[in-house]
Amino acid sequence: MIETLENTTITSKKAVFLKEVLTGLNSVPKTLPSKYFYDKIGDALFQQIMELDEYYLTQAEFEIFDQQKKQILQEFSPNGESFNLVEFGAGDGYKTKVLLKYFLSQKVDFEYIPIDISQNALDGLKKTLNQEIPDLNITPMQGDYFQVLDRLSHATSKKNIILFLGSNIGNFSPTESTKFLSQIRADINMGDHLMIGIDLKKDPAKILAAYNDQDGITAEFNLNLLHRINKELDANFNPEQFKHYPFYNPITGECKSSLISLQDQEVKIGNSTIHLSQWEPIHTEVSRKFSLKEIHDLAARCGFCITSDLSDRHGYFVDSIWKAV
Ligand code: TRP
Repeated sequence: MIETLENTTITSKKAVFLKEVLTGLNSVPKTLPSKYFYDKIGDALFQQIMELDEYYLTQAEFEIFDQQKKQILQEFSPNGESFNLVEFGAGDGYKTKVLLKYFLSQKVDFEYIPIDISQNALDGLKKTLNQEIPDLNITPMQGDYFQVLDRLSHATSKKNIILFLGSNIGNFSPTESTKFLSQIRADINMGDHLMIGIDLKKDPAKILAAYNDQDGITAEFNLNLLHRINKELDANFNPEQFKHYPFYNPITGECKSSLISLQDQEVKIGNSTIHLSQWEPIHTEVSRKFSLKEIHDLAARCGFCITSDLSDRHGYFVDSIWKAV
């Protein structure tokens, strides 16, 4: 009985994956949903990306937490009051650990609720945190951000602090960002906080390099999507016939990653066949960069006021602390 239920879930997950892939590949221009980057191999590759010199985002945000943790705690809990710390897209917790350890050392009472699309990442995170910070009270939740947002019970008397780090907001379209942040606002109470990590507009060459590293790790990460589709959806992409190509538009702030078809080709996915022309792009991800003014407009549009903008010494990145008004 249990087995049947599990199989049904697996089958329907696969059906959704297939449907989303086919919808994307039948669109003009072609797209693939970026949430499928993160299988086991994708998680490991993204881990490597975060360690690259070119991918300055992680180090910048780490520096902000390390240098300004005292002020962060002061804003979250000015009188030592307890809170729920809910993190969307927690990943491996490399940066968040700095805060978790500091908060505990200051004897603040809080429950850490990491949310991620990748169960694999959450399992790893729970294991490391149990070992490294045994006193931490942790309750992981797996799912798509929007699904989990619906599931999150907000019937709590405790203060809620939401973390949305790593410039994950940049992966949303402007409409999705407004919807997501307004939804968060609707689910929390006046005075609750959201700390959002956002990559700033800067030298276009610096941005482009972050998505086109010398060692080709980012290329491998992008191409892994095709390998995953082959494995899970009975497809026959030849990843060698595609090239990772990122491009940055300083006007819109969008850094887009794409896979370019190197030849005219047909790809079979399940029972469907997709035609790709030579040099035709498949759009995979957008990583939007913001100006401080754009961040302030976004906060106001979604029902928040900004209490502080914490930046790294190079001014590459900002962790903006918002208060629900
Ligand atoms: N959220 C990350 C970002 O936008 C994901 C990412 C890093 C990524 N490098 C990438 C996505 C390359 C696609 C391709 O910065």
